Amino acid sequence: MIIAIDGPAASGKGTLGKMLAAHYGLRHLDTGLIYRAVAKALIDAGNRPDDETAAVAAARALDPAQFDETTLKTHQIGEAASVVSALPAVRAALLAFQRDFAARPPGAVLDGRDIGTVICPHADVKIYVTAAPEVRARRRAAEYRAQGKIVDEAEVLADIRRRDARDSTRLAAPLKQAPDAHLLDTTNMDISTAVRAAIDIVEAIRAGRGRG
Ligand code: DC
Repeated sequence: MIIAIDGPAASGKGTLGKMLAAHYGLRHLDTGLIYRAVAKALIDAGNRPDDETAAVAAARALDPAQFDETTLKTHQIGEAASVVSALPAVRAALLAFQRDFAARPPGAVLDGRDIGTVICPHADVKIYVTAAPEVRARRRAAEYRAQGKIVDEAEVLADIRRRDARDSTRLAAPLKQAPDAHLLDTTNMDISTAVRAAIDIVEAIRAGRGRG
């Protein structure tokens, strides 16, 4: 089974992806980490995030086994990843890796921006996770505070709005809900309610298949 989860920044899709994968015994790929790793490689080498030639070279040289979530999940790298991910040649260089990951048994949960639309258009289950920007900003700010950082929530909200705009208006594989994706709005849900709702979606689809 392949489960595709897409959604905007700080929608909770990563946590949901992880928990769905554990529930169904599937492998999990947070595809945002791939773009973040390319961005980090560019920053470390002193290149700009919109340097397409350097970005493609970095994308081809990636070793996902070496990804360190803590260093990749910073605000600065997220911003650079949003820029790097708008480059079509970078997306093309990362396509095969993501498709291969999804195709390997017993299947996988992939979360990102274009999983249901571009990477796995034939996924068994597609979920589009979203939440009001203010709620996403509050959650992200709470995460930062838990890491001991001083946070201006209004700034976090402004960043989220800017990233939403960039990720959904770019020409290459923009963030959008696939026509056959199930919408999961977690604005008024805590994480365990959201996981339950996602499992309900998967089960409803499986039950539908079983009858068909
Ligand atoms: O989900 P995230 O915040 O870790 O993603 C970082 C950036 O990478 C995001 O701004 C857009 C980009 N991205 C993408 O374009 N396609 C994906 N499948 C995943 C992430």
